[in-house]
Amino acid sequence: MSVQSAARRLTAPDIRARKGGEPIVSLTAYHAHTARLIDPHVDFMLVGDSLGMVMHGMETTVPVTVEMMILQGQAVMRGSSHALVVVDLPFGSYEGSPQQAFATASRVLKETGAGAVKLEGGRRMAETVRFLADRGVPVMGHVGLTPQAINTLGSFKALGRDEASAALILDDARSIAEAGAFSIVLEAISEPLARQITDEVAPPTIGIGGSVACDGQILVLEDMLGLSDRVPRFVKKFADIGPAIGAAVESYAQEVRARTFPGPEHVYAPKKA
Ligand code: KIV
Repeated sequence: MSVQSAARRLTAPDIRARKGGEPIVSLTAYHAHTARLIDPHVDFMLVGDSLGMVMHGMETTVPVTVEMMILQGQAVMRGSSHALVVVDLPFGSYEGSPQQAFATASRVLKETGAGAVKLEGGRRMAETVRFLADRGVPVMGHVGLTPQAINTLGSFKALGRDEASAALILDDARSIAEAGAFSIVLEAISEPLARQITDEVAPPTIGIGGSVACDGQILVLEDMLGLSDRVPRFVKKFADIGPAIGAAVESYAQEVRARTFPGPEHVYAPKKA
């Protein structure tokens, strides 16, 4: 009897093969239940280190640890069966050397079962991307606004809007594409730059504030559902479920205080003797 599951999970090469084709759909996921909800609709889900800010209320992604990424990566794998799962390598876990990156990435892949990792940075990470890709680790790159660099950037603002900075970001994207990244996230960059990178590099580009020129799109799930207080300009709210949660909890509180919940239908009767 075959032990293979009926529906094969998408892989990094499947995403790589989508260059220039049908747009790639992706969202972040941090939990088993949200992974289950989005799995039928997305091509890949990212266990992003944005979980530090979204789930834990941190100011930046800098404090996020490998252990946090592994725990949520395991949850997302349990909740999904179709989409590729990509796990972010958090700040400080890979920049020291290609060897450090391989140790972290291999641990993440082994302990979560995810199919790929993502890391931030362009030219400075090209050697590492090649080192990982040559050793069986599919790497998604991330250039433009790289939130882990907040302490050197100073703020979360769009980049590549003047010629000099656009040229650097183009070089970043070229370097990691040539090094073997299977796809590249372009965050908060100007539309013409996103178009030029998408036209020039071989792997598919995934935009988050990168315009419709990209080969695919990603958003933070909680942002597009209307659960986040403040969102960047590039976020479209596809729903506004924050107020619905507030209203449901208000009704629950009223019913508990009025002793109308739990009702008879929620109560166990004793077994008949
Ligand atoms: O951590 C994250 O959620 C990300 C996306 C914003 C691309 O890196």
